[in-house]
Amino acid sequence: MREYAIATIPADGIGPEVIAAGTTVLEALQERISDVKFKFRTFDWGSDYYKKHGVMMPADGLETLKAFDAIYFGAVGAPDVPDHITLWGLRLPICQGFDQYANVRPTRILPGITSPLRHVDPGDLDWVIVRENSEGEYSGNGGRAHRGLPEEVGTEVAIFTRVGVTRIMRYAFRLARSRPRKLLTVVTKSNAQRHGMVMWDEIAAEVAKEFPDVTWDKMLVDAMTVRMTLKPQSLDTIVATNLHADILSDLAGALAGSLGVAPTGNIDPERRFPSMFEPIHGSAFDITGKGIANPVASFWTAAQMLDHLGEAEASECLMRAVARVCGAGIRTPDVGGTATIREVTEAVIDAIHSANV
Ligand code: NAI
Ligand code: MG
Repeated sequence: MREYAIATIPADGIGPEVIAAGTTVLEALQERISDVKFKFRTFDWGSDYYKKHGVMMPADGLETLKAFDAIYFGAVGAPDVPDHITLWGLRLPICQGFDQYANVRPTRILPGITSPLRHVDPGDLDWVIVRENSEGEYSGNGGRAHRGLPEEVGTEVAIFTRVGVTRIMRYAFRLARSRPRKLLTVVTKSNAQRHGMVMWDEIAAEVAKEFPDVTWDKMLVDAMTVRMTLKPQSLDTIVATNLHADILSDLAGALAGSLGVAPTGNIDPERRFPSMFEPIHGSAFDITGKGIANPVASFWTAAQMLDHLGEAEASECLMRAVARVCGAGIRTPDVGGTATIREVTEAVIDAIHSANV
């Protein structure tokens, strides 16, 4: 029996709805695959916790999470708490404290989901974006001086370190090698940014030598948006800086049909700490409590979690069930359907229990 301790942090808005859906689907999987077992423990951290205690999570929160094999996270953000408090109070301390330096975002057009691209076949868009998740433009380095005066300045300094760039390149090349096409595109902006981005390119070329079986190319980030839109089939694995990948992965999510299906994993590849899996979307106040949140992103990120735990069979079974349900037209309104989160979840559970998935 392989038993996994999973910390769930549903947090705010539709987070609790989609994480509850994901947990029941994982429970169905453990019934089907009898030598796998999940032990869930739910933490009530988030904006309501903040309103009661003045902090998003307790001071020993990270210490508590260390004992788990993985973290399954909903979304943070509340209308009456500033976003920088919710984000920097819960999600970012976990990503940074556990050095989850690889943010991995798979994108595919699932059956039954329509891409806004006119001439694209579902098979034409099958990407994984690897986002550098610990430094770059979001390192937090910078400051403000002479506030409110005419000579006020604000700086936002992008930090690129040899260690940080090398490890994300190695991760991306390794991932590209594990996929059938063995194809990696390194996104850059070294024409205009001639220090950190030039080092980024140089390190990419150095690391590439360790992976002679991976074909790789380089794209300027602006041209990359055009290639993603007009030639999606020319891409497979993509690596980009924190800022560039943040933007490109929203584009990827849109091209694949909806934010409601897009998953992400915040990975510590060295496995010193638990990695964290979450839907890309936020807490979606506009649909909270209406029962129509799309649970597919939270199912897909659960599949990423299973892959990370080494449970490839369970992961593939889950994704086959999701694909079958989407393909059968059992979809929430954001992807053109009329089903509720409950109907989609029950259909996925039925598919998991049916012998031919
Ligand atoms: P959002 O992702 O919450 O919502 C954007 C739009 O997409 C809304 O119309 C929403 O209804 C729709 N949507 C999102 N997820 C959906 C799903 N699963 N099914 C169906 N429709 C879905 O982004 P927004 O509105 O910009 O932010 C709301 C709050 O969430 C803010 O406080 C923001 O800071 C926070 N946020 C948190 C994130 C996180 O926890 N990782 C990521 C993005 C935003
Ligand atoms: Mg973003």
